[in-house]
Amino acid sequence: MSDCNTRIIAPSVLASDWGQVGAEVKRADEAGADWIHLDVMDGHFVENISFGPQFVSAVRPHTKLTLDVHLMITRPDKYLAEFVKAGSDRITVHVEAEHDVVGTLAAIGEAGCGRGLALNPATPFEMVVPFLDQIDLLLVMTVVPGFGGQSFMKEETMPKVAAAKAYREEHGLEYHIEVDGGIDAETVHIAGENGANVMVAGTSLYGAPDMAVAIQEMRG
Ligand code: DX5
Ligand code: ZN
Repeated sequence: MSDCNTRIIAPSVLASDWGQVGAEVKRADEAGADWIHLDVMDGHFVENISFGPQFVSAVRPHTKLTLDVHLMITRPDKYLAEFVKAGSDRITVHVEAEHDVVGTLAAIGEAGCGRGLALNPATPFEMVVPFLDQIDLLLVMTVVPGFGGQSFMKEETMPKVAAAKAYREEHGLEYHIEVDGGIDAETVHIAGENGANVMVAGTSLYGAPDMAVAIQEMRG
């Protein structure tokens, strides 16, 4: 696992042209992306429906980059095996979803995938503290999940990023801190200054005139 102080840029295919997702993933790879972020939505945990494990399988052969799968679904435990089989490298589940968080994180680890835990803007940092010694990545959502193209929620989320960084250092833990939602050339630096190192961006990268330049700008 790469160290949690290295800045990692992860384009979200949610904002790509799904009709040619293979080419879109290759484009991100060639533009210098580090990971590919896949936003799975079930229309129940979040208002939107996106794609399932078969879409992850469709993406897999087109890149060797880490597939960072974000499950915005009510029962991640129920579908975990399918996302592992589909070729996910990292799987992130929501603390607010209806599952046994400890059991799900353990199962992700046993499958050889990176263990990610996500919390929504309205969820207090205290909710994830019991699990921080069992994860490889904490995803602090910087928008209300469900749709790309929303605005970065600085006040509600940056204190949690800073708290996650402080907790990691105080307890000698090793987890990436990822942000997702409204991340662009400006907000990426605010997130970085507070302690985030994995930057998920959909609209600002897939909508950029030159993705390679946009990724470079995000590296700071
Ligand atoms: C949850 C999704 C989005 C997406 C990124 O809604 O996780 O945050 O990845 O969206 P942008 O970068 O377009 O705000
Ligand atoms: Zn996401």
